[in-house]
Amino acid sequence: MTRDTQSRGASEPGPAARLSENALKVRPYFPTLIFSLEVPDSEMLNADLIEAIYAERERDRRGVPKSNFPELGSWHSHVNLHKDVTFSELVQCVDEASDMMCRELGYHRSYRLSIGTMWSIINPPGGVNRAHIHPGCIWSGVYYVQAPTNSGRIEFIDPRTQNLMSPVKYIPDTRRPRICWTKVRYKPVAGRMLIFPSWLYHSVAPNRSRARGKDADRIIVSFNLSQKKRE
Ligand SMILES: [Fe+2]
Repeated sequence: MTRDTQSRGASEPGPAARLSENALKVRPYFPTLIFSLEVPDSEMLNADLIEAIYAERERDRRGVPKSNFPELGSWHSHVNLHKDVTFSELVQCVDEASDMMCRELGYHRSYRLSIGTMWSIINPPGGVNRAHIHPGCIWSGVYYVQAPTNSGRIEFIDPRTQNLMSPVKYIPDTRRPRICWTKVRYKPVAGRMLIFPSWLYHSVAPNRSRARGKDADRIIVSFNLSQKKRE
């Protein structure tokens, strides 16, 4: 007779057999947060932004080469669009979203998340953005101004590189639990804003839109947020 069965009947199940399915607890610590926001009735806003962004490209055809590939036709504006009155409506939307984040995350009320830089990118068919991060700020964001079908999803990569060292075998042909994802892709949707940690590597797949002319362009406005003392 074993020690375990001495104190109970031989036919009685042991503790292991009596563990219920919900006995195992898990908590997601150190999560990577991606906020999303749908700007309501964004059609007018987007129409104005499209006009302003093409006008800016006319003014500055060279643009600024960053994660985009100018040789593929991709254009990146200067980074001070938030100071241009034409973008003030979008700036207000970003400010509102930032304030909601500050409340959600318990940030000090004397500080706000303030736009430090804001720029636009036009990716025509074939345009891509290589994997990159946004140094020098806390959060970064993207607002989709025009996003035709198949114009390139943004992909975020698991920042815990050590987590990628020992690949796990998952049940085939089954959607794995979100807490086990090592990458996540978002389809661009006009009027949608994403805000993510500035240290989170991300890239944009090629624009494969089949729309005609400028309707095929994938147009975004991106921005960086830092904590600034409220005045
Ligand atoms: Fe980026």
